[in-house]
Amino acid sequence: MTDVRASSSPAEFDPFSDDYFIDPYDVYRRMRDECPVYFNETYGFWALFRYDDVCAAHKDWQTFSSGHGVDLSTLNSDPDAIRSWRLIIMMDPPEHDRMRALVSRVFTPRAIGALEPMVREVIQSYLAPFDDAETFDAVQDFSGPFPVEIICRMLGVPEGERQQIRHWLDLMLHREPGQMDPTPEGAEAAMEAGIYFLELAQERRRRPADDMISRLTQVEVDRGDGQMTQLDDAEIAGFLSLLGGAGAETVTKLVGNAAVLFHRNPDQYAKVVQDPGRTPAAVEEILRYFPPSQYQGRYSVRDSEYGGVTVPAGYPTILVTGSASRDERFYERPDQFDIDRPASLALGFGYGVHSCLGAALARMESRIAIEELARRWPRFEVDEANCARVQMSNVAGYSHVPVHRAR
Ligand code: HEM
Repeated sequence: MTDVRASSSPAEFDPFSDDYFIDPYDVYRRMRDECPVYFNETYGFWALFRYDDVCAAHKDWQTFSSGHGVDLSTLNSDPDAIRSWRLIIMMDPPEHDRMRALVSRVFTPRAIGALEPMVREVIQSYLAPFDDAETFDAVQDFSGPFPVEIICRMLGVPEGERQQIRHWLDLMLHREPGQMDPTPEGAEAAMEAGIYFLELAQERRRRPADDMISRLTQVEVDRGDGQMTQLDDAEIAGFLSLLGGAGAETVTKLVGNAAVLFHRNPDQYAKVVQDPGRTPAAVEEILRYFPPSQYQGRYSVRDSEYGGVTVPAGYPTILVTGSASRDERFYERPDQFDIDRPASLALGFGYGVHSCLGAALARMESRIAIEELARRWPRFEVDEANCARVQMSNVAGYSHVPVHRAR
């Protein structure tokens, strides 16, 4: 990879380039220093890179709307089509708040805490088969399959159909270098997933079971005019595809990233192995240092000013939390992976009205996955030459992380 610091060309940020997919952190540093409020002429978007700017923009949903979508492909699509998907992540208040309230009770730290035995059982079931092995793939064998199994159990997706959801998602999120939009296979996968969730909602309305999908067919929501009405099938399908998608891809990446970071920082891993009580702090540091969600997309609906530069109305704007969480203006030694770092805002879960609904679940899954890894694989090495990074929109991490036992 080229050393961008040594380059005299103007700072550029291309979220569909190999540089970004492989390691964006040198580029981020340059953007923060030289061009923190940036317009990309190739794709036609604005981007913010500094901690203070990213936090302020995240809080200002009146200026930076989610109603046009949250990735660059949807931000450049027809907003009416986006609205028809009925995803809370692509709604603004007050509609967003009313819809989010329908599911938020299921995801409170207390409600999630009650699921710990189920979550641990699922996680153990994927790691135990490798207890006597010398090697396994931390993503393909472990962090890929378990999160989708957990969220699908919570929702009520039938066994046998759960892993298909992450295969669809992998295709939907994949981007070829230089391409903002999904591949034809990705577009087809999105269609198939949408039809699958719609039919599942219709099926549970006909034959309710004791699960979240069935409960969503029964709840009523205030539409803002005082009228309470039930969710229609498309709205339920929207919840299922968002929860299934968000619940599946991100924890996969966090745990894969954890394996690589622990391999590169054995002193930090030793702390977790010796004292499992430090695992939650390790999860927070992985989220800061190498977060699965690198940026969140918005659409600027009115002019705003950052560092003397006007971000005009009418443009896709991305808030690069992956850069903000390495901003040397805010963090001491930001490029050092240090699980003893003082706690701070977890920007890795976003910030403001859309901050991650599944944060308590994500933290618990990640903590248990690392606890189990530390217990069963107290010393390991990652074969970095054979790791593979995903090329995904918004999501960063690995598809392959070969792990070998070290003695
Ligand atoms: C390590 C794992 C995870 C990370 C890094 C992560 C990250 C994020 C981020 C950055 C956002 C904000 C998006 C935006 O502002 O546009 C978000 C929103 C969201 N996340 Fe997560 N997430 C994780 C796990 C989960 C899980 C397990 C679920 C399970 C249900 C989930 C469900 C959601 C939902 C529904 C939203 C949208 C909330 C809203 O629009 O109000 N996430 N997540």
